[in-house]
Amino acid sequence: MSEKMISQAEQKALVGKVAIDSLIEKGLIFSGMKIGLGTGSTAMPAVSRLAERIKDGTLKDIKAVATSFQTSIACEELGIPVFSMNAKEIGGKLDLAIDGADEINPDKQLIKGGGAALLLEKIVAYNAKTFVIVADSSKTVPSIGTKFALPVEIIAEARTSVFAALQNLGASCTLRQGVKKAGPVITDNGNLIADIVWQTPPDAAKMESEINKIVGVVENGFFTANKPIVYVAQADGTVKEF
Ligand code: A5P
Repeated sequence: MSEKMISQAEQKALVGKVAIDSLIEKGLIFSGMKIGLGTGSTAMPAVSRLAERIKDGTLKDIKAVATSFQTSIACEELGIPVFSMNAKEIGGKLDLAIDGADEINPDKQLIKGGGAALLLEKIVAYNAKTFVIVADSSKTVPSIGTKFALPVEIIAEARTSVFAALQNLGASCTLRQGVKKAGPVITDNGNLIADIVWQTPPDAAKMESEINKIVGVVENGFFTANKPIVYVAQADGTVKEF
């Protein structure tokens, strides 16, 4: 008897739905709340499920903050009201933020920013009372920083000096290039992305603050300060929470 395995795309679709329903059941997603909505192919099914639970009347008066153009366009299409973090209704603080991740280690430290949205994602995640990650099974790894490159958002004028400073921290650096666009990726905030890797696993919490001390760095994709609730879909069609 062979067990039915589900694909990575199916895992992404499943985990968003399961997480939203489970968070409603736990009372962490509720009517009248302020919610941060993440970016990427795993966050999107969660956003769609949230919209379904608004449409079916379970949730009322939801105020969302979007972490990218991708997410704000999705919210517009799905009828989820979007506010700025600075809006009176939000006041810079969120009840919960839900997002995807590129890598998650056993201490629930993350790399994010594969979609170049790390800056707004971190503003949202670090100002949320509860932070939630949804992921497929490929995202859980023993250590972070040596395989999936850490995205660092940088000011264009400081590219050369920032690269030198990142190399001094032991990392090799690549400037992220656009797809169907000549030249580098320009973020939603008008900056560049350096993708950096170490040969041996770095201390993620220490590096998160060291990198941000470099003049010309806007933010980096290590997320170590607000420990998330993590939902991970498995190939056997179940979802594990840790
Ligand atoms: C966007 O910048 C990211 O932080 C995403 O949340 C992360 O890259 C995960 O993306 P996927 O869910 O598309 O794999």
